[in-house]
Amino acid sequence: MLQRPRRNRKSEVIRQMVQETYVSASNLIFPLFIVEGENQKTEVSSMPGIFRYSIDNLLREVESCMKLGLNSFDLFPNIDEALKDKYATESHRDESLYLRAIRAVKKEFPESCVITDVAMDPYSSDGHDGVVENGEILNDETLEILGKMALAHARSGADIIAPSDMMDGRVGYIRKTLDDAGFTGVSIMSYSAKYASAFYGPFRDALNSAPKFGDKKTYQMNPANQREALIEARLDEAEGADFLMVKPGLPYLDVIKLLKDNTELPIAAYNVSGEYAMIKAAVQNGWLNEQRSVTEVLTSFRRAGASAILTYHAKQVLENKWL
Ligand code: PBG
Repeated sequence: MLQRPRRNRKSEVIRQMVQETYVSASNLIFPLFIVEGENQKTEVSSMPGIFRYSIDNLLREVESCMKLGLNSFDLFPNIDEALKDKYATESHRDESLYLRAIRAVKKEFPESCVITDVAMDPYSSDGHDGVVENGEILNDETLEILGKMALAHARSGADIIAPSDMMDGRVGYIRKTLDDAGFTGVSIMSYSAKYASAFYGPFRDALNSAPKFGDKKTYQMNPANQREALIEARLDEAEGADFLMVKPGLPYLDVIKLLKDNTELPIAAYNVSGEYAMIKAAVQNGWLNEQRSVTEVLTSFRRAGASAILTYHAKQVLENKWL
C-alpha cells in the first residue's frame, strides 16, 4: 500500500502536527442574559449553568470571563411583561435595562467587545420580531423601530450591532441610520441565515419571549433550504454587513460552509440554546462526556468555516482549559 493515512495518526505529536483547525478563546462570543434588579442571578431551568444577571452581577460575570481571555459578549434582556408593547418602545428608551447594561459594561470594561441584539421580540407584547397588524408581521414599519434600537445601542457604546429579526432590508436601513448619525465605526453582524428552528426553545424560556400567537415562519427561513441562504447572504453583504451569521449551528454546518465558499466576509455560527440544552441533558444523564462532546462541536464550526462562535459553553470551556 502506498497510501496509509494511519501513519499521520500514529502519535500525539504527529496528530497535532497535521491538525487542520483550532478553536481559541478569541473565536468565542458568550451570550449573557440580563434581568432588572440588584444582586440577581437566576438559573435558566432549561439551560443548566446559564443565568440571568442583574447589571451589578453582570459586571462581575464579565470580569471573570475576561480573566479567562473571553472578551466578547452578546447581551439579551429579560423584560418585565408590563413594559412590553406593540411597538417595542422599551427597546429604545434611554433608561431601559438593556441600554443601562451596555453602558455599564463598556464603562467598566472599555476593551471588551459588546455585541447587541437588535430585534423586537424581548420587548414586544406580541412576542414577535416585527410589528403585528391583523396577525401579519409588517416589514417596513418594523425597520424604523430597528433603526431606533440600533442607534440607541450605538449611542450606549455597542461595538457590534446584531440584527436577528430577519426583516428584509434591515441591514441597509440600520447601516444608513448609523452612518447618518456619525456611527460609521459601529459594525453589523447580520443574522443572515436564521432558520425557523425548534432549537430556540430554551432561549425563549430565558427571556420569556415566545410568540403569543403563531410562529416565525414568515420571516425566519425554512430549515429545508440551503440556496435561499445565499440570497440572504448576498443581500446582507451588499447592504453593508461586516459579518454573516448562520443560526442555529450544528444542524446547519452545510450552510456555514456554503457561505464561507461564497463570501470573503467572516462567518459567525450561533450554537443556540437548544443545542446547549441537548448536550447538558445528555451529560447530566451520564450519556455523553462533556469535555469531548463540547470541544468536538466547537471544532466542527471552525472546520465548516466559522470565524466566530456564539456559544453558551464559552466560559466553561475556558475555565476548564478544554481548548
Ligand atoms: C430573537 C432571537 C432568538 C435567539 C436570538 N435572538 C430567538 C428567536 O428567534 O425566537 C435565539 C438564541 C438561542 O436560542 O440561543 N430575535
